[in-house]
Amino acid sequence: MLPGGALNLVELQEAARERLPAITYDYYASGAHDEHTLRENEAAWARVHLHYRVLVDVSARDLSTTVLGTRVSMPILVAPTAFHRLACPDGELATARAASRARTVMCLSSLSNTGVEDVCAVSGGPVWFQLYVYRDRAATEALVARAEAAGASALVLTVDAPLLGRRERDVRNRFHLPDGLRVENLTAAGHGDVALRSGESGLAAYFAEKLDPSLTWKDVAWLRSVTRVPLLVKGIVRPDDARRAIDHGASGVVVSNHGGRQLDGSPATAAVLAPIANAVQGRIEVLIDGGVRRGTDVLKALSLGARAVLIGRPILWGLAVAGEDGALAVLETLRHELDHAMALAGCARVSDATHDLVSSA
Ligand code: FNR
Repeated sequence: MLPGGALNLVELQEAARERLPAITYDYYASGAHDEHTLRENEAAWARVHLHYRVLVDVSARDLSTTVLGTRVSMPILVAPTAFHRLACPDGELATARAASRARTVMCLSSLSNTGVEDVCAVSGGPVWFQLYVYRDRAATEALVARAEAAGASALVLTVDAPLLGRRERDVRNRFHLPDGLRVENLTAAGHGDVALRSGESGLAAYFAEKLDPSLTWKDVAWLRSVTRVPLLVKGIVRPDDARRAIDHGASGVVVSNHGGRQLDGSPATAAVLAPIANAVQGRIEVLIDGGVRRGTDVLKALSLGARAVLIGRPILWGLAVAGEDGALAVLETLRHELDHAMALAGCARVSDATHDLVSSA
């Protein structure tokens, strides 16, 4: 059961809005510029239709699958999102415990308020580490080594953010981290503070100063050379870029537009998944995030060619309303909704979600 009297993830967002300070709610909720892509991400799932099969024995259903060889109880993972201690005191520790109780993967952001070692230590399940590449390459390489040593079992390189998207709500609120909260993973390297700036988002200024906008595909090969764990490239919306990811040694891509927070006007991820899966032809795994709010959305994603989906904002709403239990309730609600959708669609297992199940309007 979701907390705050919510029946679904959309209602949970409203409950979180009532509890969070506006600066935090806006940071979590917002998208870039006019927020067209933010809205489209959710709207596009509604335009995919499920051509359910009838008279299939669905009395026993199995939602489990594997991602990058790791067994998970369902094809629903936790997306990397920054600054969980803005939502609840335990922050990323609460998220990690929730993901491991749900027997799925948590992907930890580089920009967490809790160090990767502490997160991996409390998690009983698989943790992936999302990487931003800093101009300070020594700090970046040290971070990769730390994540690996802590036990992160994959790296997720985010490639859609050479600069931060302009999120006007954050500009208006002059978004920054309150006293006592830092980018914990980068504190030792001197990149821990997201400070108040006049007339702009402190996070946008942080990105402009510290992250490396010269990153190219060559750096993906470099990253491969400094890590032993599998690498996923996150932020892909084009088939040709997915093919390049294969050519540069990626084990998977995440079809993502960063939840509509980077380039406004970029396509909804639901709309580009099928062509990307088609271009990849099963050579690497294709994951997707963006606007997944219902079990039916997950079933549509699987049918369009995704191995699994990642959930961003709803986890934050769960944390804000009820901490670890709230984040777990989000995952369990989606699990129940997916299970229900599979039954009604004539799918007893995840591999029954094939392309013939969906059409787009
Ligand atoms: C994000 N996202 C993100 N992505 C990433 O690679 N590193 C990060 O630090 C963050 N931080 C972040 C903060 C917040 C508040 C949000 C909402 C999103 C993007 C995230 O991984 C994912 O792509 C989207 O959130 C997916 O869309 P939904 O599920 O939020 O619609």
